Amino acid sequence: MDKLVIKGGKKLAGEVRISGSKNASLPIFVATILAPGLNRIGNVPFLRDINTTIKVLESLGAIIEGNGNLVKIDSAGIHNHEATYDLVKTMRASVLVLGPLLARFGKARVSLPGGCAIGARPINLHLKGLQALGAEINLEHGYVEAEAKRLKGARINFDISTVGGTEHLMMAAATAKGETVLENAAREPEIDDLAQVLNLMGAHIEGAGTDTIRIQGVNELSPVSYSVMPDRIEAGTFMIAAAITGGDVKILGMKPEHLDALIFKLQDAGVEITSRDNVVRVKAPRKLRSINIKTRPYPGFPTDMQAQFMALMCVADGASVISENIFENRFMHVSELLRFGADITTEGNSATVKGVKKLSGAPVMATDLRASASLILAGLAADNITEISRIYHLDRGYESIEKKLAGLGADIQRIKE
Ligand code: EPZ
Repeated sequence: MDKLVIKGGKKLAGEVRISGSKNASLPIFVATILAPGLNRIGNVPFLRDINTTIKVLESLGAIIEGNGNLVKIDSAGIHNHEATYDLVKTMRASVLVLGPLLARFGKARVSLPGGCAIGARPINLHLKGLQALGAEINLEHGYVEAEAKRLKGARINFDISTVGGTEHLMMAAATAKGETVLENAAREPEIDDLAQVLNLMGAHIEGAGTDTIRIQGVNELSPVSYSVMPDRIEAGTFMIAAAITGGDVKILGMKPEHLDALIFKLQDAGVEITSRDNVVRVKAPRKLRSINIKTRPYPGFPTDMQAQFMALMCVADGASVISENIFENRFMHVSELLRFGADITTEGNSATVKGVKKLSGAPVMATDLRASASLILAGLAADNITEISRIYHLDRGYESIEKKLAGLGADIQRIKE
C-alpha cells in the first residue's frame, strides 16, 4: 500500500486547476442506464470511485471507453438488472443503480451498501421513495429486490435532507407515469448537475437546487454529451491548504458560488479571498482567528469540509467549536490530528479545538476520504516529516493530489510500500 511523505513548513504559492466533481460524476454515470446509447461524459476526474462505478456499469452490460477526462458510456447493451455485493460494498453510491434499473427493466436486485467508516448511512429514505412510486420492495439476504411494471409519479416528502436519496428518486421519477414532487429535497450543486443531464436526455425536471423538485415523467430518454461541474470539495481543500501554510494560491476552474459557507468562514478566520472570472485567489493571514462551525445540508457548511477545517483550526489563535450534524461518526481524524500535537477534545458530535503554535510531523493513518485530506493539511503546516499510510482512502476522491500540491511548492512524495 502507498504512503505519502511530507516535509512541512513550505508556504504554498502558484496556480492549481480543480478537477471534475466526484460526487456529480457518480450519479451522472448511473443516469446513463436510463438513456440507452452512447453517452459522452467530459471533465471526469481520474479516481478510484470512478473506476468502481465503471465496473458496476460494465457488470450490468454497458460498454465503456476511458476512465477519466472524457468517458464514453454505451448503455444500450445493459441487460443485467443485478448489482452484486462485491461491487456495491466498495462504494455505497452504487446503490443508486436500483431506481434506474427498476425504471428500465421493471425489476432490479441490488446489494444493500452496508455502513462505512463515517456512519451507518442507511438507504431507508431511498426505498421509501421508490415504494411511493409504486415499487414492490423486498429485502433478502442483504439484497434489495424491487419490482414495478411502471413507476407512477407521487408526492414524496423526505424526513431529512438526503443527497443520494434526492438523486435516486429524481432518476427513478424521470420516466415514471405522471408528476412526482420531491419535498424537502437536498439542494447540493451536484443535484442540479444531475438534473441538467437528465433534462438534456429529455426529462422534464424543475426546481433542482431548491427544496422542492417537480418531475413530469416522460416515456424515454436519449443519450447525451455533458461536461461535469468542478469538484467543490477538492477546491475547498486547496483553499485550506493555502490558508494553513501561510500561502498565496490561485485556484483555477472552481465555482466559488458553490462554497459560500466555507468562504465566509475562512474570511471570518482572516483569510483573504478574491475571485475574478473563475480564478479564486486565497491569501493566508499572518495569524488565523478561531471560528466555530456547524455542518449543515447545502447551502450550510459542508460536512465534507469539516475535517479539513478542523486541521486549520488546530493552528488558529484561540479555541473553536466544531459540530458535526450530518454523520454520526465523522471525527476519526481527531485521534490522528492529536498525534501532530493538536489540542482537541470531543464530546458527542462536538469537538473543541484549541489552536497551538506549531504542529509537529508524525506517522499517521488515513481512516476515510476527507480525514486523509485533513492529515495532509496538518502535515503541510507541521514542522519536520509526516508519513500518511492507507492513502487508498485518499485516491477515492482526490485526483493526483500530491502532484498538484508539489506544483504549489509542497515537499510531498508518494512512496510505494
Ligand atoms: C453524499 O452522500 C456524498 N456522497 C457525501 O460525500 C456527503 O458527505 C453527503 O452526501 C452529505 O453531503 C456522494 O455524493 C457520492 P446523504 P449521501 O444521503 O448521499 C442519512 C464524500 O466525502 N440518511 O445526504 O450518502 C445519512 O445517514 C462523501 O465525498 C438516512 O438516514 O449522504 C446521513 O446521516 C462522504 N437515510 C444523512 O442522511 C437515507 O435513506 C445525509 O446523508 C439516506 C440518508
